[in-house]
Amino acid sequence: ITAVDVIRTKRDGGELSSAQIDWVIDAYTKGDVADEQMSALAMAIFLNGAKPREIADWTAAMIRSGITLDLAAVGKPCVDKHSTGGVGDKITLPLAPLVAVFDVAVPQLSGRGLGHTGGTLDKLESIPGFQVDMSEAQVIEQLKEIGAVICAATGDLAPADKKLYALRDITSTVESIPLIASSIMCKKIAEGADAIVLDVKVGSGAFMKDFAKARELAETMVRLGADHGTDTRALLTDMSVPLGRTAGNALEVRESVEVLAGGGPADVVELTVALAKEMLAAAGKPDADPAAALKDGRAMDKWRKMISAQGGEVDAPLPIARETEELTAGSDGYVADMDAYAVGVAAWRLGAGRERQGQPVQFGAGIEILKTVGEPVKAGEPVLRLHTDTPDRFAAAKDALAGRWSVGSRPADRGPIILDRVT
Ligand code: URA
Repeated sequence: ITAVDVIRTKRDGGELSSAQIDWVIDAYTKGDVADEQMSALAMAIFLNGAKPREIADWTAAMIRSGITLDLAAVGKPCVDKHSTGGVGDKITLPLAPLVAVFDVAVPQLSGRGLGHTGGTLDKLESIPGFQVDMSEAQVIEQLKEIGAVICAATGDLAPADKKLYALRDITSTVESIPLIASSIMCKKIAEGADAIVLDVKVGSGAFMKDFAKARELAETMVRLGADHGTDTRALLTDMSVPLGRTAGNALEVRESVEVLAGGGPADVVELTVALAKEMLAAAGKPDADPAAALKDGRAMDKWRKMISAQGGEVDAPLPIARETEELTAGSDGYVADMDAYAVGVAAWRLGAGRERQGQPVQFGAGIEILKTVGEPVKAGEPVLRLHTDTPDRFAAAKDALAGRWSVGSRPADRGPIILDRVT
């Protein structure tokens, strides 16, 4: 087998054999297949797709490229949640401690921001002292003791995906169902959880913009999980409007803490509770009442324990950006739309995300949505507040938002958050 043969097969619309897939993933992980060859193969897959059997083989080969965790020592059901990525999607922060309240372990191996989407690790690192790097032994210990961990995936977990993901990001081959499904599921399966709950985002702020494609992605991932003996279910959820009222690292931590205190935006609470119910049902606890645990302080208590266990100063003030600017309504009316992608790009440009891999983020940067879709507003009233340490970034953020939110004369409907469920 040679890389050129594998690329040619896919380029010409053929089907890759199991042997070809095993070989190319292994050789790429070792560095025997060059980045430019893998880029060509990724583009051929992007353009010509892949059969379910090829996706299954590709995922299995990526899992085998590294270690798999053994969570048996935790001694309780382990359930993991994964979002395909969105704007203002801070759900992991309240969700992991919430589910842990019910004696279910939640090992959240998380990532950093990617393009216009935020990353859970970047958000949590805005808490002074919080550590995201943990050993397998530390993860298991914290799962036993507290039940929730949110940390970085070790480099040994699916290293083929780590390399391939970075390549896809710079070759415009991210938004491919076979490539996204295998990328997400190889990491989740290698993590060794008993069940996986997927939050598959649909809309402008998601990688899948339309419902049919998002559903196909969800079905593909649910099938991959089942093939590996992992109970996998998915919710399809709206990402045409940002979740909650904040996008940006420390701003999102603040909002998550509001949810853990029993308040917070209704959409964030609704999705957190819905995903918690799916996770608890997958763990054999269908009668648990997560909404009550948000109201009565049990989830907050877990959050405080989890943050402290990972070195975070749970009562320390969160970073605040040096400068703010507001965008105001031009007329009386109701906020009619608020495009998730535009808000994500604007928060990114304000410094909440990176321009290049490895750069630091500004913890205080981002956007507060003071009035969201459906809410009344008066002419001159602020609708969006932009935060950054570097005011020369305001112009680029305003550019990204121009024409992407509006005020209309009639109350608009935010629409449902949960669009469908795939099992
Ligand atoms: N998240 C991933 O981990 N991989 C993808 O391909 C897309 C989103």
